[in-house]
Amino acid sequence: MDLHEHAKQILFSGNLEDKLAIIDLDTSFKLTSSVEKPSNPSRSKIIQFSNKKIKFPKKHTLHENDKKAQALHFFANHELQAIELMAAGILIFPTENEADHKFKLSLMNTIQDEKKHFLLYMNRFNELGVEFGDFSVGDFFWRQLAKINTKAEFYSFLALTLEAANLDFAKYYCELFSEIGDEKTSNIMKIVYEDEIRHVAIGRSWLDLWRGNLDLWAFYIENLPELITPARAKGMVFDHEGRRKAGLDEGFINKILTYRDDFSVTDRKNWK
Ligand SMILES: [Fe+2]
Ligand SMILES: [Fe+2]
Repeated sequence: MDLHEHAKQILFSGNLEDKLAIIDLDTSFKLTSSVEKPSNPSRSKIIQFSNKKIKFPKKHTLHENDKKAQALHFFANHELQAIELMAAGILIFPTENEADHKFKLSLMNTIQDEKKHFLLYMNRFNELGVEFGDFSVGDFFWRQLAKINTKAEFYSFLALTLEAANLDFAKYYCELFSEIGDEKTSNIMKIVYEDEIRHVAIGRSWLDLWRGNLDLWAFYIENLPELITPARAKGMVFDHEGRRKAGLDEGFINKILTYRDDFSVTDRKNWK
């Protein structure tokens, strides 16, 4: 199976096992044309996107097993959407040269990490008595794909927004689970955190390559999907260190840190 075949398997098979399969892939260069953006990834009935809003469990309830499992179920759905978005990234852009191929190879490598994250979360909430699909799952990440038409937009959203914010979330929950004595879950968050630094760095280095004379901040802002602001690129704590390790410079980091809009005030504060 080559990169494109596996990306299609991820997107168009509804089975979780197919989406998460670890396959010995043929990674040779092949010219490909672009595939039309699917409106939704195929998902079997039990794990289909739902409009039903469920609230992320409050911090002070996370020592309770059912709330902890629910939080991990949220995180797992984020991973699965990331896997599906990255598979879409492999398919919707053509492969016309070596650089395009390299872009897709690095996406596929990242997909392998996201599969690992999904399984870490799922194994943990399974231990707590929950199956994937027991809670309804949202499609916020996936929904943004409709507005993404270039690779620069893709990585501005995926790596420098979603994955950058996940540095903050992973760090925050790593510490929180440790504080409540759950080292097992804390360690999962630590693994995700370490990998996420690398994922942010991958997006940052591609954007650096494409930005020409613009500085990274200007290029990033220009390429964010409509209605997505840099407030989405951070969580309830701000992890300077991870961003530095991902190769973001102080100017960029400070612009993210000090960026304010209604979103950061209204939504994120409720998560604490
Ligand atoms: Fe992940
Ligand atoms: Fe990631």
